[in-house]
Amino acid sequence: MKIACIGTGFVGVVTTAVFASHGHEVAGLDIDENKVASLSKGQVPFFEPGLNELLNKTLVSGNLTFTTSYQEAITDAEIILIMVGTPSAADGQADLKYVLATAESMAPYLKEDAIVVIKSTVPPGTNKKIEKILKQKAKVSFTTASVPEFLREGTAVEDTLHPSRVVIGSTNKKAADKLAQLHRPLSDRIIVMKPESAQMSKYAANTYLATRITFINQVADLCEKNGADIQEVIAGIGEDSRIGDHYWYPGFGYGGSCFPKDVSELAAYSRAVGESDNLMNKVHDLNQARTPYLMEKLGKKVGGWKNKKVAILGLSFKPNTDDTREAPSIAIINHLQQNGAEVTGFDPMAKWRGDSTNFSQKESVVEAVAEADVIIAVIEWPEIVSFDFSKTKLDKQQFFIDGRNQFEPSILINNNYTYLGIGRK
Ligand code: UDX
Repeated sequence: MKIACIGTGFVGVVTTAVFASHGHEVAGLDIDENKVASLSKGQVPFFEPGLNELLNKTLVSGNLTFTTSYQEAITDAEIILIMVGTPSAADGQADLKYVLATAESMAPYLKEDAIVVIKSTVPPGTNKKIEKILKQKAKVSFTTASVPEFLREGTAVEDTLHPSRVVIGSTNKKAADKLAQLHRPLSDRIIVMKPESAQMSKYAANTYLATRITFINQVADLCEKNGADIQEVIAGIGEDSRIGDHYWYPGFGYGGSCFPKDVSELAAYSRAVGESDNLMNKVHDLNQARTPYLMEKLGKKVGGWKNKKVAILGLSFKPNTDDTREAPSIAIINHLQQNGAEVTGFDPMAKWRGDSTNFSQKESVVEAVAEADVIIAVIEWPEIVSFDFSKTKLDKQQFFIDGRNQFEPSILINNNYTYLGIGRK
């Protein structure tokens, strides 16, 4: 099939490479000339496992091209995937200006029966808005659909090659069949529904997962009050098949480009449609407060942060990515800076881009913990979790804060660390 992908951000680059690797003729379009130039040379502007290799393979095959020209990308395209950013607007809802601008720009070049698909995360009702714009300028008949993206950073290539499910929001049978045909080699779990339902599915999935994390963080706090161990509690609830034992890591709260934004957008959408008293508001507020709350509490346990040397292990928002958007490390480091600590940081991929007062980024765990009074393991990067901290133990009291409960407490305690986990004593 001939496919045009509009927007070469994270989702756009992964999607273009995956569909091209399946033999489709894909044009990746972006208005940013520099991005187009570097992607055309096979340079991915961020770290994502496996993506560089896949992109270069598909560029060589000739199935994938990048362009800044709508005319070039759209004229022959049977399917157009919109994957541009939707920053949060002042009222907290998704700002659709880029999505709507793509509709304006593509309309004159649409091919007869083209299917225009929104993959960006947008509120229900957005299809009607782009249809209105397209109708004003398009010379042909077309259909719109919604196929939300569920990929995770760090496993994006794998998630796109083998998605857990493909949700197709379309009320047009011919278009839905064609989109199913496009996705069938990737997954046999294809669910066709209304565009509004597809868009709600995306918001609901992310908000549910964020709520689950917020819930387990709260249960962890309660465990600390009564001597229960959150890991034992997770084992105790996880065997119930309605609950499950995965995606239950308590920690410093969720981050990234999706959860914080999607939860607050769904909260804002709820308010806008008259449902002001909603769970999403509370989840968002609790997650925002999570790191400051933990840092206050931990500060008391380590005898105050002032003049403490603190090593932060893990600056990205999760392992296997260099993305620091809404990463807990930001609020942690800010708290430490405001409270007079001297901070070192280590991350296998991510760079600290914030205020560097009293902060220095190191190239290894060894360098980061070299003088530390307190070590905070924030993110479960394999390089951090598999590190042997017995080798770097200093001859002074050192606190080890296991921000993800990834370490066996007894090993650290036997090595004379003062161990502090989340929701466990
Ligand atoms: C998420 C969704 O999983 C994905 O389906 C959607 O398309 C985009 O948003 P992503 O943001 O890449 O993907 O990361 P994910 O692995 O889901 O983690 C999100 C945040 O939750 C991270 O900060 C992570 O550290 C945190 N998290 C996750 C927890 O705190 N505890 C957990 O048990 C799981």
